[in-house]
Formats: sequence, structure tokens, C-alpha cells
Amino acid sequence: MNVTELATFAITKRLRRLRQTESFRALVRETRLTPDALVYPLFACPGEGVRREVPSMPGVFQLSIDEVVREAMAAADEGIRAVLLFGLPEHKDAEGSHAWRPDAPVQRAVRALKRVRPELLVITDVCLCEYTSHGHCGVLSGEEIVNDPTVALLVRTALSHAEAGADIVAPSDMMDGRVRAIRSALDERGMQQVAIMSYAAKYCSAFYGPFREAADSAPAFGDRRSHQMDPSNVEEALREVALDIEEGADIVMVKPALPYLDVIWRVKERFGYPTAAYQVSGEYAMLKAAAQHGWIDEPRAMREALTAIRRAGADIIITYYARELARTL
Ligand code: PBG
Repeated sequence: MNVTELATFAITKRLRRLRQTESFRALVRETRLTPDALVYPLFACPGEGVRREVPSMPGVFQLSIDEVVREAMAAADEGIRAVLLFGLPEHKDAEGSHAWRPDAPVQRAVRALKRVRPELLVITDVCLCEYTSHGHCGVLSGEEIVNDPTVALLVRTALSHAEAGADIVAPSDMMDGRVRAIRSALDERGMQQVAIMSYAAKYCSAFYGPFREAADSAPAFGDRRSHQMDPSNVEEALREVALDIEEGADIVMVKPALPYLDVIWRVKERFGYPTAAYQVSGEYAMLKAAAQHGWIDEPRAMREALTAIRRAGADIIITYYARELARTL
């Protein structure tokens, strides 16, 4: 026996056997992407017939209500069952009072979507940064974001979304105690059926840059470090999630997604709760930019990133790629 034959003889376990063809690979695939797990974010703005592309997010648009409906229907026809709405108000002030107006873009979009496609799940982002003149997520005292007065305004905002017909409200502000406050306000008004998806472990991330262009919500001064989480921490993320569950969150979210796969995994392992991950604007913009340069194969990179997020334990993925992915499934 020569050396090659000897080596061949010794190998009894051959993991390559199950990788031979696509049929083998599909048979043993552990993680699958399905359109059921996707949430598609949309930016509602005033006007009619408006479809304004966000420069840093190719393929993402600020949409007037008629266009939100058109976009959501196209997505629904491709198998997407849930959208997440953000709003660009007509007017901003220090309190963000347009956040809870019944005729603001988000509330109008919710009603319009529920009218045409009641089974489409409508989720609304609850935060004030798109509505305040200073771009901060809450009420200011000097340069400090004051927690409890902000929670009161978030409650008003969540209630107005629920009254418009939202199925799920999603507080993204990271104030303390807001999940409990929103849950009790909804229950007191007989809206027990409205679910809460809390942005539970939301990090203070550089990857939100393009979103702030899309939602016109960049802070006029300072940053969001006094309420969003330090990227270095994971034990704290588990405390945030535990607290939100105790306060009444139905779904918990980790955000961003790809740089925080370990956090997704630990949250899913520890709590076993429906867990969402948000592939944020910067994650999307990086893939788009590299693809536009011809530096990566975009469909493959998109699938790989989204598969990794699922594999880490996310049941739900919020992604600007929702339609592009759904079309390939
Ligand atoms: C609102 C909010 C933000 C995002 C979702 N909700 C921005 C922020 O916290 O500054 C980011 C989403 C994205 O980057 O795609 N507070």
C-alpha cells in the first residue's frame, strides 16, 4: 500500500458526502429563509404620488400614503406579511407633538393599509426623534433627555397608532419603563389585542447613519449614548430583555443584527421568546455600496447575511431587503 491508499482507507467519516449536490445540501440544510419571517420597513411622508429615493439607501424610498399602500401591496403579493412604519411629519417641534396626531403620516398609513389589506400585519415604530425639532428621542431639559416625561409622550404616540389600527407597536426609544406604561395604557382602553415588539437591546450604533437621512432624524447636537446601549455590553442586553419581558413585551428585538449575532443568540437561548433582529440601514447600505462597485455578489451576500441572522436565533428579521429576498424564495 502506498501513502495515498493508506490515507484513503483510514477516513471513515466523510462530511463532504452530504455536500455533493444541491439535492444533498438542501436535504440537510439547518437554516431556511422564509418570507413569513420578514418585516419590511417603510417611510411614510406627506403628499401624494411621492416616491423619493434615499440617496444612501438605494431601493428605499420616502413614500406618500398612496405609495406606501402600493409598495406594501406589492410586498404582500410577494409573500411578505408584515410592514414596519416610520413617519416624516409635516412639522417638528420641541415635544414632537405630530407623533400622536391622528392625521400624521403613520396614522394615515395604518388606516389606509388596514382598509385595503386587513390581514397584513402593521407594526409602527414608536419614537419621537423623527418628530422633534432637535432630533432627540425625547423631551429635553437643557441637553438632557428626561425619561418619565418622554414616556408619557411615547404612550400618547403608541395609543394613537393603536387607535388607527396598528397590530403591533414597537417602541424604539430606549427610555426606562416605557413597555409597562404602554401596556397599561393600551389595556385600560380595551386594546389588549395590540402587541408590543420592544426594541429591547438597541445599541448606540454608527450603523444607523443612513436611516437618519431617510427619516430626517439626526440629533442637532450630541448623540444617543445616554439611552442606547454601549456596544461593548451583552450582560446588560440580557437585563434589558428580561425587564421588557417582565413589563409586557410580546416580541423582543436586538438591533443592529450582523455585528450583534452573539447578542441575538444569547437572548434566544436565555428567554426562548419570539426574537426579532433588525438588519439596519448601515448594514443594508454597506452591501448596496459594495455591490454597486462590483465588489461583492449582492444576492449571495444578502442571503448569507440574512441566513446568519436566522442561524443566530432570530425568528423575525426586519430588513430593507425584504422584497428582494422574498422574490428569490
Ligand atoms: C428611531 C429609530 C432608529 C432606527 C429605528 N428606529 C434610529 C435611531 O435610533 O437613531 C434605526 C433603523 C435603521 O438604521 O435602519 N429611534
